Amino acid sequence: MNKHIGILTAGGDSPGLNAAIRAIGKSALSSGRMQIVGFRDGFRGLMENRTMRLDREVLSSILTRGGTILGTSRDKPHKMVVGAEVMDMTDVICDNYRRHNLDVLVCIGGGGTQKNAYRLAQKGLNIITLPKTIDNDVAMTDVTFGFHTAMEIATEAIDRLHSTAHSHHRIIVVEIMGHKAGWLALGAGVAGGADIILIPEIPYDLQSAANAIRKRQLRGTNFSIVAVAEGALNIEDSKILHDLQTKKAKAKEANDSKGRKKVAEALQEFTKRCKGNTVRLTEELEKLTGLESRLTILGHYQRGGTPSAADRLLSTRLGSACVGYIDQGIYGVMVAVDGNKTKAVPLDQVIGKKNLVPPDHPWVKSARDVGTCFGD
Ligand code: F6P
Repeated sequence: MNKHIGILTAGGDSPGLNAAIRAIGKSALSSGRMQIVGFRDGFRGLMENRTMRLDREVLSSILTRGGTILGTSRDKPHKMVVGAEVMDMTDVICDNYRRHNLDVLVCIGGGGTQKNAYRLAQKGLNIITLPKTIDNDVAMTDVTFGFHTAMEIATEAIDRLHSTAHSHHRIIVVEIMGHKAGWLALGAGVAGGADIILIPEIPYDLQSAANAIRKRQLRGTNFSIVAVAEGALNIEDSKILHDLQTKKAKAKEANDSKGRKKVAEALQEFTKRCKGNTVRLTEELEKLTGLESRLTILGHYQRGGTPSAADRLLSTRLGSACVGYIDQGIYGVMVAVDGNKTKAVPLDQVIGKKNLVPPDHPWVKSARDVGTCFGD
């Protein structure tokens, strides 16, 4: 009997998405027992019935292409902007799943997508997910695809920033994506030989970062590269965030809607204030060291372009494994990386968790061994 597979990509795009779509599509078509259809722009496309044909011709030219041929969005089924309103469109999505005669919906995305996919699974849809994000912060998988490519891009940027920092005797602060996780800044910082690496998992002290630069100055090295994760916080801000998160959890537990609203507002305010953190950090380091400082924000440059060989390989492994699980009727799971193998992890074990850098991670230890400062 033919199985009908729907695929969508949701959340921020990430190199390797097309390689994953290709792997799922080609493996499904090769089985001779499956048909496949794409939905455009994440969950929104399924809600609006916007599809894309995924035949051999379409699938055969996308392995190396960046972005996603399906398009993506951060729309959530239960909170979708429709006209001027935010509405729960879950039922419409479930109806469309049935209307397209789907046997399974493959949702490719990061932490948010895993949560949204789980909600649909709870509504009775057959769901299977793949973990993608440059942030590498999805729980229960060794790694996510997109991370390796973004780390390569950020490393190359650090390499290039080195020569200009050296020539001008400057501090160059380079802000690296990663949301609340420090994997990208850590990986690229170590690979690119950054002198200071600041990540959210290790709250920093400004003076300690400045001291590391001063020590280099005393040795006659008048330039420094500071790799800072976009979510990095100083010790004081990290405490404030921790307190707010504790209050949020307590208000949730006590079902205190007023309290929840208040904390949500405070968190919003805090996030807004943190937006300029790297600008302030760059200015402070200049003041404290007397070295001219510049800031480079890599931003979306890290998400664009062709995936690395490692990400193409990973996407292909996960995509083909996904079709294997579909063939066996294994649903409600995320296809995860476990060393050289893949495994199916129940979605309820994935959601509500984040894969953060353990402060004693071997990459951190190696960096410390070669003299990198973490600002602690
Ligand atoms: O999750 C991937 C990511 O690139 C994060 O590193 C970053 O914080 C965020 O997405 C940026 O989102 P957007 O593309 O919506 O601005």
